[in-house]
Amino acid sequence: MQKINVLIDCDPGHDDVMAILLALANRDKLNILGVSTVAGNQTLDKVTLNVRKLYTYLGIKTPIAVGMERPIIRELKTGDFVHGESGLDGFEFPEPTVEADSTNAIIFMREKLLSCHEKSVLIATGPLTNVGLLLRTFPEVKDKIEYISLMGGSIFKGNVTPFAEYNIYADPEAAHIVFNSGIPIVMSGLDVTHKAYITNEDILELERIDGKVTRMCAKLLKFFTKFHTNEGYKNFPLHDVCAVMYVLNKDIFEGQNLLVDIDTSDTMHRGRTAADLREWVIHENTNTLALLDVDREKFIHDLFAAFIKLDKELI
Ligand code: RIB
Ligand code: CA
Repeated sequence: MQKINVLIDCDPGHDDVMAILLALANRDKLNILGVSTVAGNQTLDKVTLNVRKLYTYLGIKTPIAVGMERPIIRELKTGDFVHGESGLDGFEFPEPTVEADSTNAIIFMREKLLSCHEKSVLIATGPLTNVGLLLRTFPEVKDKIEYISLMGGSIFKGNVTPFAEYNIYADPEAAHIVFNSGIPIVMSGLDVTHKAYITNEDILELERIDGKVTRMCAKLLKFFTKFHTNEGYKNFPLHDVCAVMYVLNKDIFEGQNLLVDIDTSDTMHRGRTAADLREWVIHENTNTLALLDVDREKFIHDLFAAFIKLDKELI
């Protein structure tokens, strides 16, 4: 079966790493053209270092391209309160021996997309700065993108504000470009990612398996649960994994085709993914498949199968 060409744009970040691991374990289905980094959870240098450290630890790599160090207009607000000082606290990685391949993710992404005969899927799990600038700078790539599977937004409630999710809030102007690009969007917003959660028992299971990857994931996820536990979460949403899991297994998700636009104001609605939910209005063409539900058992099963597969590959 023809592999799916994918580019992954991310800001690792604990859940970004879980998403990358899922993709790496499925290279029989995915042709990973490369991973690009964008400032978000932590500064650009730190999130890029985290990819380099992860690849060094795994002994696996894809091309790495370094993207934008800050949102298009807004000041960078990192997510260090969730992901720690390094952006990937909780596990001692080796010093990196893997280097980034390109210092300009926009050029890198353009070259990769245009080099493929088939269309590609663009997966984004951080602020959309790189993706927005790619589409605005090189509109010719639009014809080479089948759809964008992104983690971001929320139809009903936010996380960084009552109305906005972090990735969109961080760079609403970039998100506005992406959602109005004409490229089909599959949005893994908080509506679905809060149902794609891991539990403390699941993490203990990873600890019990105790392979090279499962051990790392258990330690990283234990750190990831700290913020969420303090916030009163009873379980822990693996947000970014949804954006990759959808590409691999659409059938475990349910969603709704909606017309979504992005609030780029400076009001309390900054960064809101505003969807037209009026059921009496028929939209000729919607721009977004908003995922709203997931079979969590299958989600966790497939994710753990990926981790265990990498454990075996790395023995
Ligand atoms: O709101 C969740 C998103 O913000 C995830 O992508 C997480 O990694 C952080 O970037
Ligand atoms: Ca992320």
